[in-house]
Amino acid sequence: MKKILLTGGLGYIGSHICVELLNSDYQVYVIDNLSNSSKKVLSQIEIITGRRPTFFENDIRDKHNLIKIFKKNSFDSVIHLAGLKSINDSVNNPLDYYNNNVISAISLFEVMSQAGCKSIIFSSSASVYGAPSILPITETCSLSTLNPYAETKLVIENLLQDMFISDSDWNISILRYFNPVGAHQSGLIGESPLGIPSNLFPYISKVAKGEFPKLTIFGNDYDTHDGTGIRDFIHVVDLAKGHLKSLEVMQSNSKVLVLNLGTGKGYSVLDVLKEFEVASNQTIPYEYVARRKGDIAQCYADASLAFKLLNWKTELNLSQMCQDTWNWEKFNRSL
Ligand code: NAD
Ligand code: WQD
Repeated sequence: MKKILLTGGLGYIGSHICVELLNSDYQVYVIDNLSNSSKKVLSQIEIITGRRPTFFENDIRDKHNLIKIFKKNSFDSVIHLAGLKSINDSVNNPLDYYNNNVISAISLFEVMSQAGCKSIIFSSSASVYGAPSILPITETCSLSTLNPYAETKLVIENLLQDMFISDSDWNISILRYFNPVGAHQSGLIGESPLGIPSNLFPYISKVAKGEFPKLTIFGNDYDTHDGTGIRDFIHVVDLAKGHLKSLEVMQSNSKVLVLNLGTGKGYSVLDVLKEFEVASNQTIPYEYVARRKGDIAQCYADASLAFKLLNWKTELNLSQMCQDTWNWEKFNRSL
């Protein structure tokens, strides 16, 4: 049984990866400081899979404890998800983002290197493409960042590339996620943002649930089919499965893979709203307001490289994304 360590494994994406790994007979270990998650997720994972990952409540910047964990356990690979992820927050608190994202990555990679565990998947983001000049976005498109969050992702990507240049024993996958949404079909795990959500899906869900009166749509004057912004929404379960495919491929040869994980299709805010109305069987009130600062009109992936190299492609459509988000939100047990 392969042993996989997930940093940030109790978070939104990490918990779904845990489920897929456990269902595929991997032995799963999780380090999480619970800054944006809860221990209750462990029980939910156990209900879904019948297995419970080994859990270390730890901050990965705490190198002393990290070393102890690596001394006691020999991991085949690490999936590094831990980090802060809010763009707005990163603009207001850049130090927190560099500290939590960059310092923690350095701490983790140093400990991995010393322990001889040189296989890593890193959660990067489509935000490293900045305002894309070409659509769909391929992995070779130029990189630029519009906020500190994206900058931390790019710094870590560059660090990983430099590590491979200095030591080709490293086996690295950099996965650039587009817009992960949805939840596990069981309704037992999903995204629980603290406070007022800034992302579209969690906000629409709260409107549908009656917690907010209406959705504010940021801009209806973009050059898109209905004037609202277009994104590549990807179901979190498809995204999780992409990590398993990546692990399989990494076992066969040592290199740096940089891959987009998206569906390759763009949907507008209004497309999502309409589909969510169907999923939740109600009309969802909305109003148009000015564009949100820093937003781009369109962002969607060319997902063909992941298909070619991983034999992976997404299976769940926008309707399923909305149904599963709603199913999770309806019964959200405030994990
Ligand atoms: P999340 O906040 O739900 O999960 C991150 C987890 O990491 C949380 O459980 C948190 O408690 C933990 N954590 C944070 N800092 C830590 C530290 N220093 N030590 C230990 N644990 C720590 O976020 P998510 O949506 O699951 O995102 C996971 C990763 O994917 C992040 O790196 C994020 O930047 C990246 N990503 C997310 C999205 C998205 O839209 N959700 C898109 C692209 C990339
Ligand atoms: C989607 C569309 C908004 C909320 C961000 C990061 C990205 C990734 C995912 C981490 C846009 C519109 C939204 C609302 C709206 N995260 N919208 N009303 O900004 O594409 O991506 O989160 O890596 O890197 O950039 O996602 O869900 O915030 O917005 O009209 O209340 O929905 O303007 O067009 P975004 P989002």
